[in-house]
Amino acid sequence: MASVIVVGTQWGDEGKGKIVDFLAEQADTIVRFQGGNNAGHTVVVKDKKVILHLIPSGILHPNKKCIIGNGVVIDPRDLLNEIESLKSRDCLKNNSRLLISEGAHLVMPYHKKIDIARENLKDGKKIGTTGRGIGPTYEDKVGRIGIKMIDLLDKEVFKEKLGYNLKEKNFYLVHYLKEKGVEFEEIYNEYIELGIKIKEYVANTSLIINEDIKNGKNILFEGAQGSLLDVDHGTYPFVTSSNTVAAEACIGSGIGPTKIDKVIGISKAYTTRVGEGPFPAELNNELGNSLRERGEEYGATTGRPRRCGWFDATMVKHAIRISGISGLVITKLDVLSGLDKIKICTGYDCKGEMYSEFPSSLKTLEACRPIYEEMDGWSEDLNEIREYGKLPDNARRYIDRIEKLLDTEITIISLGTRRDQTIILKNPFTTDNRTDTM
Ligand code: IMP
Repeated sequence: MASVIVVGTQWGDEGKGKIVDFLAEQADTIVRFQGGNNAGHTVVVKDKKVILHLIPSGILHPNKKCIIGNGVVIDPRDLLNEIESLKSRDCLKNNSRLLISEGAHLVMPYHKKIDIARENLKDGKKIGTTGRGIGPTYEDKVGRIGIKMIDLLDKEVFKEKLGYNLKEKNFYLVHYLKEKGVEFEEIYNEYIELGIKIKEYVANTSLIINEDIKNGKNILFEGAQGSLLDVDHGTYPFVTSSNTVAAEACIGSGIGPTKIDKVIGISKAYTTRVGEGPFPAELNNELGNSLRERGEEYGATTGRPRRCGWFDATMVKHAIRISGISGLVITKLDVLSGLDKIKICTGYDCKGEMYSEFPSSLKTLEACRPIYEEMDGWSEDLNEIREYGKLPDNARRYIDRIEKLLDTEITIISLGTRRDQTIILKNPFTTDNRTDTM
C-alpha cells in the first residue's frame, strides 16, 4: 500500500492527466485536493479524448473511488455537467464511486462575474485568469464568508449566507466594477435545485480517506495546475489562488503528512505557460510557434494558445524542493523530435548577476535572461518506442542531463497521448525497479 501525491512542476499543463490516469489503475482511491474547474485534464482512452475539470480522471477506471476534497472549489453547475457527461459515456454507472467533501467551497455566480470584470478593468493588473471565479471564491474562503457544500444542503443556512454575501457583492459589482448586480431569488432557487442533485455525493471525505489509508488501500492524490502557479511559492501575483504544492494534498483532503509515502513531479520536456507573467526561457519566435503546433499547446479549459519555451531546470529544481519530489515524470519527449539543437535553461543572468536558484522577486525574474546549455537533438520519431534503451542516444543524453541537473530520479517517460506510449522505469506504487510498458 502507498499514498502517492502527483504534482505539476511548471506552470500547469505538464500532461498530468495521462500520468494520473495510468497511476489510477493501481490506486483504490483517487483524490483531487485543490483548484477548481480552472484545471483541465485531458485523457485519451481508446482514441477518445476526455477532458475533466473537477472530477479526478480516475473515474474513467471502473470500480475506483474518486474524491473531491475540501481544498477544491466547486462550481455546482459545472460539476453536474461533468457528472452528466460521464454518465452519457457510461463512465459513472455506480454513483457511490464519486464523493464530494462537505467542506469544499462553492463557486457562486458572483465570483465568476467579479473574476471576469476585474480582468477587464482598464487600469487593473491583468493576470490572465481562466475566468472561472476561482480567485474570488478562495478570497471568500480566507475572508470567512464563503459558502461550503454542506451549507448548500441546509436551506436556512444557505439563505442566510447568500443574503449576507449579496449585500457586499452587489455593492462591489455595481459601484466599483460597473457591472449589473445579481438577484438573490435567481441564485437561491438555482443553487437549491443543484444541491438536491448533488446531495447523494456529499460526505465527510476526510474520514473516508483516513479509513482507506488505515485499511491498506493505495491512494493517489491528484494535483491540479503547477508548482509555479502556487499562491505562496509561484510567480505571484501571476498565480492561481490555491496552494498547488504537495503539502496541500494533506490540507485539501484532511489527512496528516505522516500518511504520505511518495511525491511524484510531472515535467514537460519543454516549458509552457498560459496567462500573463514572467517566463525566462520563453521562445517568442518561430520555434516557439512550432512547439505549440507540434505539442498541441492550447488550453484544455479556455482553448488559449500556450506560450512555449525550453526546459527550465532552475525552475523545476525550485518545484522539486518546495514539494519534496522524489521521482520525476518527463512528458511529451516525442514533441522535441526533429530539432537540430535542444537547449536547457540552467540559470539566469539578471543585469550581470548570476542566479542558480529561482529568484523570489518578480522584478528580478522579469529582468532575467536565461543561461542555456545546448545539446544535439534527434530526428527519430519516438511515439512507438517502449524501452528506455531503444531511445535515440541524444534523447537518452537529454534525459540523463535533466536527471543530473535536478539530482532527481526520472521514473516515467511519456512519448505520446495514448496510455501505452509510456516507458516506466520505476513504478511509484511498487518498490521494485522495472523497465516495462503500461
Ligand atoms: P485562475 O486560476 O483562473 O485564477 O488563473 C490564474 C492563473 O493560473 C492564470 O495565469 C491561468 O492561466 C493559470 N491557470 C489556472 N489553471 C490552470 C491550469 O490548469 N493550467 C495552466 N494554467 C492555469
